[in-house]
Amino acid sequence: MSKYDDLFTAAANEDSVFIDKGALDPLTEPDEIIARDPKEAELASILNGVNEGYLPPTVSIHGPPGTGKTLTTRRVCREFASRHSDCAVEYVNLKECRTLFSAANEILLEVAGERKKAYEGLDGIFEGIWTTLEEYPEYTILLLDEVDHIKHDSNYDVSDFFYRLLRGEGKLKRDITLSAWLISNQLIDVDLRLDSRVESAMGEESVYFGPYDMGRLDKLLHPRLEQGFRDGAVPDEVRSYGIREASKRWGDARKTISLFRNAGELANERGQARITKACIDDSLDATNKEATLEKLKALPYNCLVVLSGMAFWRDKATGEIAKSVTTSEIVDATERIRPESALGERAVRDVLRELETIGLVNTWIESRGQGGRVKKCETTFDPEWIGQALDQLKE
Ligand SMILES: Nc1ncnc2c1ncn2[C@@H]1O[C@H](COP(=O)(O)OP(=O)(O)OP(=O)(O)O)[C@@H](O)[C@H]1O
Ligand SMILES: [Mg+2]
Repeated sequence: MSKYDDLFTAAANEDSVFIDKGALDPLTEPDEIIARDPKEAELASILNGVNEGYLPPTVSIHGPPGTGKTLTTRRVCREFASRHSDCAVEYVNLKECRTLFSAANEILLEVAGERKKAYEGLDGIFEGIWTTLEEYPEYTILLLDEVDHIKHDSNYDVSDFFYRLLRGEGKLKRDITLSAWLISNQLIDVDLRLDSRVESAMGEESVYFGPYDMGRLDKLLHPRLEQGFRDGAVPDEVRSYGIREASKRWGDARKTISLFRNAGELANERGQARITKACIDDSLDATNKEATLEKLKALPYNCLVVLSGMAFWRDKATGEIAKSVTTSEIVDATERIRPESALGERAVRDVLRELETIGLVNTWIESRGQGGRVKKCETTFDPEWIGQALDQLKE
């Protein structure tokens, strides 16, 4: 036996709680969409407009993370298009697009299989899109996923981008029917502060995907747990407990699937034949941390500067990161950490407001008697994670 035979034998876990761990990967497309019948019906009724000669210019699909927006919208549209030769569906994810130019180029790439160079500008790209769509079936549905990731850039304005997409001259001239379905966590016209001429071109159609309640999460998890775990590895009371906690905290299918996978891994590490409530509890903490790290890594630069400023000060007695800090301490810290990107008091307050809205920071005013009032803040998570998120970003 070679060294590797020994290695692999040692690594093989005969008593693993898993039989098909792939079933517990949220990226594995499920065969069926579960417990979203009313949403599927809403989407189908909008699509049915094709039979009546009308699709709305935009449809807003919104709701919190992991609620099935991408899965359900893509699947229902694809199934519809496969039954209607006069309708085409294209899907573009804009998550990685840093500029409006690159967002438009992604759309062009999807419909025409090519990109334009920077000198051709947004106009050049849209011209390319309309020329291609002229050859398309009568109705085109463009699914723009994670559309809330696009931001104003130095050359173009988000409103300009949408105005071109909805009312562009090249489109009107060729009489192209395009229905843009905007998938995001927020209602897009509010989130991107679009101007009124775009808002009036957008239409009102919207479909909201709310968080999953316990009953729905249970149905959704059922086939995955059956397929993923060995018989008896997830006792009923542990399953109910995990699903109840997941629905109370998140209502997010993706996180719930990961919760059970993590719990299974913990059970294996601990040499247990089945997962226990303690595995679920520890996995809840780990899943929360993972989700927070993901959120931190996606933040704009200034937010990370402020958070690093918050995590700069340490308690003299314990050596741990100070629990709460004042805004002037943050300003001071940003000057010490990175003088070239130090922020003033006002900028720090603005960023804190933003961080508070997304639930990463709590702020309050503290009275210091004669010393006046100061604004204090603390993170809603373990501040040690800030450094870990920054390290992961560097990798
Ligand atoms: N109704 C459902 N039936 C079966 N699986 C589901 C369902 N909803 C969600 N899932 C699972 O959860 C994963 C996440 O769903 P999806 O990507 O559609 O969420 P989302 O609402 O688009 O989230 P985000 O806002 O983060 O983009 C899916 O890949 C799928 O594995
Ligand atoms: Mg999505």
